Amino acid sequence: MSRLVRFACLILLTVPAAEAAFVKQPYLQSLTDATVIVHWETSTSQTGKVQYGLTSSYGQEVSHSNSAVDHELTLTGLQMDTLYHYRAISGSDTSVDATFHSNVTGNRPFRFFAYGDDRSDSASHQSVVTRMLAASPLPNLALNVGDLTYDGSATAFRTFFNVEGGLMRRLPMYASPGNHDVSNMTNWLRYLALPNNERWYTVRYGNSAFHCVDVYSTYTPGSTQYNWLVSELQADSANPAIQHIFVWFHDPPYTTNAGHSSNTTVRSYLCPLFERFHVAMAFQGHNHCYEHSLVNGVHYILTGGGGAPLYTSWNAAQPWTVYREATFEAVVIDVNGDTVKSVGIKPNGTRFDSLLLVQHTAVVERPRSPVTSRLQATPNPFRDRVYFTLESTAPGPAQIEVCDALGRTVAVLTDRNSGAGHHVLVWDASDAPAGFYFCVARTGSSTAFTTLVRTQ
Ligand SMILES: [Fe+2]
Repeated sequence: MSRLVRFACLILLTVPAAEAAFVKQPYLQSLTDATVIVHWETSTSQTGKVQYGLTSSYGQEVSHSNSAVDHELTLTGLQMDTLYHYRAISGSDTSVDATFHSNVTGNRPFRFFAYGDDRSDSASHQSVVTRMLAASPLPNLALNVGDLTYDGSATAFRTFFNVEGGLMRRLPMYASPGNHDVSNMTNWLRYLALPNNERWYTVRYGNSAFHCVDVYSTYTPGSTQYNWLVSELQADSANPAIQHIFVWFHDPPYTTNAGHSSNTTVRSYLCPLFERFHVAMAFQGHNHCYEHSLVNGVHYILTGGGGAPLYTSWNAAQPWTVYREATFEAVVIDVNGDTVKSVGIKPNGTRFDSLLLVQHTAVVERPRSPVTSRLQATPNPFRDRVYFTLESTAPGPAQIEVCDALGRTVAVLTDRNSGAGHHVLVWDASDAPAGFYFCVARTGSSTAFTTLVRTQ
C-alpha cells in the first residue's frame, strides 16, 4: 500500500462519515416546563429524529418524515428539574450525546448568563464563550442582548454557531434583536425558534420571569408591544410563584460610554414600567463594554463585551454610575429563593462588579408576607469577630451566608434552634481579608440582609 493510499485510509478511519452532514450540530431553543425545541442543519436534505431520555440509552423519540436541511423538533413530556440526554439523527448521521437541565420547580436555585454583542470578531467571541463553558455549574439558560452577527448573513450565522455550538447544545439561548440583527431577520427566523413572534417574548424559569423587548419595533404607550409588556408584568404580579423579574433588550437607557448615547425613548416609556413592577435587573448591550447603573431601584447591566471590538471612550460618570469597564465579559446570575447574585466574568476568569439583591417584594399589588426578619451585626466595622442578631417571626433554623465583595460565599453560619424569635450567631473572621462583605440571613421563608466591613 502506498503512503498516499495509507494516508487516505487513515482519514476515512478517523473522520466518521456520520458527523459530516451536520452543518450545525443540534442546539436547544425555547424550553418550557414540559418541552424544548431541538434545531439542527444538515448539508443535504434529509429526514430527522431526536432520541432523548434520562440516560444515554434514551428511550423516547420524536421524528419528522419530510426531507429538509433545517430540522426542528419539539421534545415533549419532560419532567421538571431533571438532567436529560439527547442526540439527533439525520439519514446515516448521528450527533454526539448532549445533556440539558429541564426547568426547575418553585424556589429551587438556578443560574443564567447575560451577554451579547458577539458579532464580527470570532476570536474574542470564542474567548468569552470558552469562559462561559467553564462555569461550574453551567447555567440553565442564557440571555443574549443582541447583535449576534454583523449582517445576519448565512455565512455570519455559521461563524456564530461555530463559536456558540458547544454552549447552545447544553442550554437554551434567548436573543433580543439588535440593530445589526434587524437589518436582515431572515436567518434569525430561520435558525432561532424563540417564543411568541421571536422578537419580543416571555420566558418563565423557576421562580423568575424574563421579558425580552425588541427596541427596534414600536414600543411606545398604546403600541402592541407596550400593551403586551404591561400585560406580562401584571401577570407576574398576580402570580405568587414569581419572585424576580428580569428584562433584556439591545439599547441601554443609561450609559456613559461614548460609543452610543443613552436611548431616552426607552428611558421615558419603559423604565417607569420597570420601576413600577420592581424589575430586579435589566440587561442591554449596543455599547461594547460593561456598565452597571442603578436608577430608582432598578439595576441596569450593560453587557456588550461578548466579542465585538471594545468601545474604550467614556463620557463623564453620572450619579447613577456604579461600575464601568471596557472589557470582554459575560455576566453570571444566581437565583436562590428570594436572593439574586450577579457577577461579571472576563475571559481570563477575573470576576468583577458583584451584586447581591434581596427581593423582599418582587412585584406590586401583592399582599406583603406577615413574616418579618431583622438582621444586625455588632460591632460593624469589626476586626476579628462579629455577632449577628437575627429577629424573625418565621419558625425554622436560621442560616447566615457571608459573601465577599466579589459575591463569593466565605462563610455559612447555622443556628439549629427552630423556633421563631431571637437568633445569635458569631463569625470568627480572623482568617478573612479586610474589606466589604454582604450577609443574607434566612429563616423559613423569610430573608434579611446587611452589609459588613472588616478592618485591618
Ligand atoms: Fe448594537
